[in-house]
Amino acid sequence: MSRPVRKIAINTGGGDAPGLNAVLRAVTLAACERGLEVWGIKHGYRGLIEREPGGLVRLDRQAVRGIMHLGGTILGTANRGDPFHYPTCEGNTVVPKDRADDLIARFHEEGFDALIAVGGDGSLAIAQKLVERGLPLVVGVPKTIDNDVFGTELTFGFDTAVAIATEAIDRLHTTTESHERVMVVELMGRHAGWIALRSGIAGGADVILIPEVPFSYEPIIEKILQRESRGRHFSIVVVAEGATVAGGGVTIREVGDEFRRVAVLGGVAERVAKEIALRTGKETRSMVLGHLQRGGGPTTFDRLLALRFGAGAVRFLVEGCESGMVALRQHSVELVPLAEVAGKTKTVDLHGDSVTTAREMGICFGDEPPGRFPLDGPLPASLDPVMKPCS
Ligand code: F6P
Repeated sequence: MSRPVRKIAINTGGGDAPGLNAVLRAVTLAACERGLEVWGIKHGYRGLIEREPGGLVRLDRQAVRGIMHLGGTILGTANRGDPFHYPTCEGNTVVPKDRADDLIARFHEEGFDALIAVGGDGSLAIAQKLVERGLPLVVGVPKTIDNDVFGTELTFGFDTAVAIATEAIDRLHTTTESHERVMVVELMGRHAGWIALRSGIAGGADVILIPEVPFSYEPIIEKILQRESRGRHFSIVVVAEGATVAGGGVTIREVGDEFRRVAVLGGVAERVAKEIALRTGKETRSMVLGHLQRGGGPTTFDRLLALRFGAGAVRFLVEGCESGMVALRQHSVELVPLAEVAGKTKTVDLHGDSVTTAREMGICFGDEPPGRFPLDGPLPASLDPVMKPCS
């Protein structure tokens, strides 16, 4: 029989997502109401591994006052703080080291009974590895704008990202139509197309390209020309950053400075735009919406989901649960075994009703057979149906 939970540690890891502060508030208040102590670990696991002053902060009512609607995380986060490959200085170089045992030792030393790990699939996989290494009790809270965490119908942060992306697509419509251009907008989501799919449908995109459907250019060009033949001289193409042309790989770009350069997904919109311009002769522009999708406060839906997840995590802990992850299932917050979900990715269901809805509305995914988007009338004189490259 495990000992009762009295002292909880909580961290936020990986890319931030709107709603993190709402989780922190709900966990803290739900714990305070039961007389439990909550401590925040700063910057992922750094506050526990390093013994820097202020690495662990007491979360009480005062600490979480007025933060529920704010974006980001008051604890800070870390993308490269995996305790199993923890960046550690050796001389002049930084090498990855396994610091999981140090982390677990400090956890016991501080008298913690449980960890609430708020993170995406990477952070949840790390949490499961910590359990396997000997951390006694972990409850994961699924966070990410990408919505790709397995085992939960939704993650918090996703609704906000979709709302921001939809508004961006709405705004792009007016300028794209005025200039009679094609606009290609690149959205986040890593290897899952949830943000592109949902905002593309809601925003009235003509083409949606997602990683789950490798695309060809022919149907995309057909779709754009079909619109031309209907007198619609502009088109909006939404492309997920992880989308690939059939038989090709993802588009990668390098970011960072002279000291550290990392390869990240990015640049597919520019590639797609160049190809569309070449094949249609239409003026085509691209833009990357980027971190705007993650910044700022959560929508009401995400705020509520985050609060429900946070309160649920504490509830399951005091009820004596095993390590698990809070999850939204059929409108209700449940606990699912961490081992069953960690390390898996939830991608778009190609037979689900979102994809079906989009296809039924004539949205192109770039995998349609020839002739799926037939011309409805003559093309304007300036456009050659044989798709001559522009001169
Ligand atoms: O996982 C969230 C996410 O925003 C992805 O959609 C995106 O690919 C990635 O993080 C970007 O990470 P970073 O902020 O490290 O560039």
